Formats: sequence, structure tokens, C-alpha cells
Amino acid sequence: MKDLITTECYKKEDLLDIIDLSLTLKHCIRMGYYPPLLKNKTLGMIFEQSSTRTRVSFETAMEQLGGHAQYLAPGQIQLGGHESMADTGRVLSRLVDIVMARVDAHDTVKGLAEVASIPVINGMSDYNHPTQELGDAITMVEHLPSGKCLEECKIVFVGDATQVCASTMMITTKLGMEFVQFGPEGHQLSEQMQAIGRANCKASGGRFGVTDVMEDAFRDADFVYTDVWYGLYNKELSREERLKIFMPKYQVTDKMMRAAAPHAKFLHCLPATRGEEVVDEVLDAPYSVAFDQAENRLTAMRGILVYLLRDKICAEYKQKAAEAALAEMLFRIL
Ligand code: CP
Repeated sequence: MKDLITTECYKKEDLLDIIDLSLTLKHCIRMGYYPPLLKNKTLGMIFEQSSTRTRVSFETAMEQLGGHAQYLAPGQIQLGGHESMADTGRVLSRLVDIVMARVDAHDTVKGLAEVASIPVINGMSDYNHPTQELGDAITMVEHLPSGKCLEECKIVFVGDATQVCASTMMITTKLGMEFVQFGPEGHQLSEQMQAIGRANCKASGGRFGVTDVMEDAFRDADFVYTDVWYGLYNKELSREERLKIFMPKYQVTDKMMRAAAPHAKFLHCLPATRGEEVVDEVLDAPYSVAFDQAENRLTAMRGILVYLLRDKICAEYKQKAAEAALAEMLFRIL
């Protein structure tokens, strides 16, 4: 696979490979070894919107693995003026090794991947957020309930059918988990998304559901996830209108957490709107792994970058090994 636009294009085994690679690189760095796998590699980062976690984790990942990242903000490059995304993609393919784009419309990042000859990573669109998915899967692997594997776990997503909700559904059902969205009618995953969830479960043995009945959603849940009610996309309703729909039934409170399994962990992609979709006592609780998720954006970015550039990295490694063998032969004569 050249790009990471959606995890739906990946097999379960490929996703597990990326997770494994990410965790191995995390271990290397924890042990003080920064493998220079991305030496002389440059990442171009296009942002049509603001970002903390995605921008910082990509930039840090490139730096830690010996490469470099360029922040291409709106207004600082020709894109958004009279140069199209297609031409930008063609030009960047000549100038950098890999591109990530956080975009307003999903078609933009899809179009970029079509024209670019280098790998393109979706840094979030109005459709999905695949790098968040992989970081979250890593976080769940690190916080599995004792004696359980991922395939035996249930996750409940509380609230609006945001692109993070869709993404959480995509990766958990692909990995064989049980996914349930607990959300109000009109804010539940679309028919198209529900079809994806059901198809993934058919292949993986996972389970999928959507409900507005809290007891059903939370029963035996190992993970509870929520996202903002008023985010970057879907601004057709005002904040006040959204509060009327979601408050108080869909606000994650400590009382609500007690309806899940006793060992349940709380997840949030962040940034959170404290006091809206989640209260402080949950986000700051010992069972909250939201800040581990933020750290694992970096864990995932390292794995994704190396995975997508692995052919180039391996070719260069083989070239270096061949050069070393030739040098040894020469020095034996000298
Ligand atoms: N969760 C997430 O994508 O955060 P940023 O918007 O800060 O990148």
C-alpha cells in the first residue's frame, strides 16, 4: 500500500504489523537507541487546519529517526492561492519523500494521493482520522484487561458520529473487537459507515452495534471513548443546539463509567472540551488513558512513516551492505 488514506484499504495483518513496528521503535527509543531509519528523508506536512498532536508527533518522529519535517501552513505555500492540490502533489513528489495532509474535505487528500508518486498520509479529514486510529489501537494494546486479547474486548463510543467515531469503528471492527456507538438518533453513524462496520465484523469475527440505550452500550465494556460534540466539521448546528441534544445523557461522568466493566479505561482523542462531552473527574481519573493516547500519536507516527518508506529504507540498507562488503574486499588486498 503506497498511502495511508484509510485503514479500510489495509488487511488486519498489515495493521498489526504497523502496531508491532511502532511498539518496537518505541522500545528502542525508550532504551536510548534512536535508529536512523529516516536519515536524509523529508516529510512535507500540509495543514488546512490547526493541530497540536498531529503536527508535533509527526515532526518529533521525523527528528528522532534522523529525518526532517517541513510545516506547510495555509498562507505559507501557494496552495490555497491559485495553485491546485494536484499541482502541489506533483511538485512535492519531486521535493520531499513523503507527505501528510490535514484537510477540510476528504476528496482533497484522496486526490493528493492519486497524483503524488510518493506516499501520502491522511492527517485527518471530514471522513476519518487513520493516524489517530493506529495510536489508539496501540494504547488499547498497552492497556488490555488482564488475561484478555484485543479480539475479546468491547469498546463503546459515546456521543456524536464524528470522524473519530467512524475511525474508531473502522479499526476496532477490523481488528475483531466489539464496537458500539452510544449516540442519539440523527447523530449515529451513517448507513454507509454501519455497512463498513458490519463488513469488517464479518471478516474479523468482531461485533458492531449502534444504540441510544446506555445500559446496552456499556455492559461489559472494556474501553469507553468520546470526542467533542462541536468540532472542526459538521458546524451546521450551533453549540447551544448541540448541548441541547447531548447534555446530560451523553456526557461521560464517573457514574457513567461505573456502568462499564470495573477495569474499563477511558479514551479521548483530545483536545477535549472539559465540562461538555467529559467531566474533569473522568479525564483526570487513574482509569483515563487519554494522555497515553496523545503520547502514542508519536508512537504510531514513527511506525507509519517507517512502514510507508520501508522499500526505500531496505534498498538503501542493502546498498550500504554491498558497499561495506566491497570495501572489505579492497582492504583485504591493501
Ligand atoms: N487528536 C488530534 O488529532 O489532535 P490535533 O488536532 O491537536 O492534531
